[in-house]
Amino acid sequence: MPYAQIEGWGMHLPSRIVPNESFVKMGLDTSDEWISSRTGIEERRLAGHNEATSDMAVKAAHRALRVAEAHASDVDLIIVATCTPDHIMPSTASLVQNRLGARRAGALDLNAACAGFVYALAMGAGQIEAGRAGRVLVIGADELSLHLDWRDRSTCVLFGDGAGAVLLRAAVEPGILTSTMGSDGSGADLLMIPGGGSRYASNGRNGSNSGGRYLRMNGSQIFRWATQMMSRAAEQVIRESGLEPERIDLFIPHQANLRIIESTARRLGLSEDKVFSNVGHYGNTSAASIPIALCEAIASGRVDEGDNIVLTSFGAGLSWAALALRWTVPIEGHPSRWTPIRQTFESRMAAVRSAMRRQQRRVRASLDERFRADGG
Ligand code: UT7
Repeated sequence: MPYAQIEGWGMHLPSRIVPNESFVKMGLDTSDEWISSRTGIEERRLAGHNEATSDMAVKAAHRALRVAEAHASDVDLIIVATCTPDHIMPSTASLVQNRLGARRAGALDLNAACAGFVYALAMGAGQIEAGRAGRVLVIGADELSLHLDWRDRSTCVLFGDGAGAVLLRAAVEPGILTSTMGSDGSGADLLMIPGGGSRYASNGRNGSNSGGRYLRMNGSQIFRWATQMMSRAAEQVIRESGLEPERIDLFIPHQANLRIIESTARRLGLSEDKVFSNVGHYGNTSAASIPIALCEAIASGRVDEGDNIVLTSFGAGLSWAALALRWTVPIEGHPSRWTPIRQTFESRMAAVRSAMRRQQRRVRASLDERFRADGG
């Protein structure tokens, strides 16, 4: 049976930095002291006006391909974990596939909210282990700032935008060791963006109540549940992968709140030096939080070949997922200086190919029409 290994990684964060003080200046009844002491968040990044989820996802994916020195055309499957897609349809993954020029790849979105990336990583690894894919690009990308009510201090200070990606490849050694996924829909109302779907349709079909496009959350109930669930899921993958907690080199939990992260680490008996957190800089970036944290852990020298790493996440659904992996690739590899040039060329070619296919479709449609008009 083939195994799945991570061979490339990349992230993208919008350039606009919003510190806690900005909320006070906006007139919100809050303070830097409250936000940083209750959440650990000091600032977050917010996407620009013309920056959609797929734009961030493509940038993160390009970096992951560059690190692996892989071609977009080598990818068999693209999974984008997101709860803030560019459109209801088509999938954001299809937009990413087109922009990358990943001609051979299937593409789908996966929505498990903030737990989405770990879900997607487990499912991508599953495709490789089943022999159905040789390379899978797994992306976590979210732009929750679009769904924040900037007058609601209990939610708007918590979230940020961003994207992270990893490239998985088939290999003879593991890689991804084990994973678990779970859901408890009885808690669906605890964290929700009610509008925009079929329950509260925007065309008013289901009555006048639009449900609202803003994120609503019962923070304290989620907090209590998350501290238990994250550690329980992590314990399960540690046990099932045959590791002892003391053999865990790095623990990367979903970056929602520093207090949740610390409490989870305490429950698992992990010392501070084994826990990675960057929630202070980016807030909760939803499905992007774990791949961004992984990239930063690598960049700061916290990951070495042979390390055992545990990821654990939770989010709306309620949903959760955890995954244990062994790091197998050298970090120091410097991609060839031709790789960015090749990537730029490939992206241009992808854009040309895409434009030609659109043109072909238009020509065919107009020929069909003429043929019908001629009574054919
Ligand atoms: O990916 C999953 C996403 N969701 C989460 O991660 C949420 C998990 N929950 C949390 O992180 C925490 O529950 C919060 C950070 C949301 C809230 O912290 P808390 O310690 O649980 O506070 P609380 O909800 O119990 O609220 C305490 C007080 C309330 O005031 P009263 O009713 O005691 O007068 C809130 O209105 O803090 C107030 N409050 C604020 N005060 C200043 C809530 N938000 C703010 C704020 N600034 N931004």
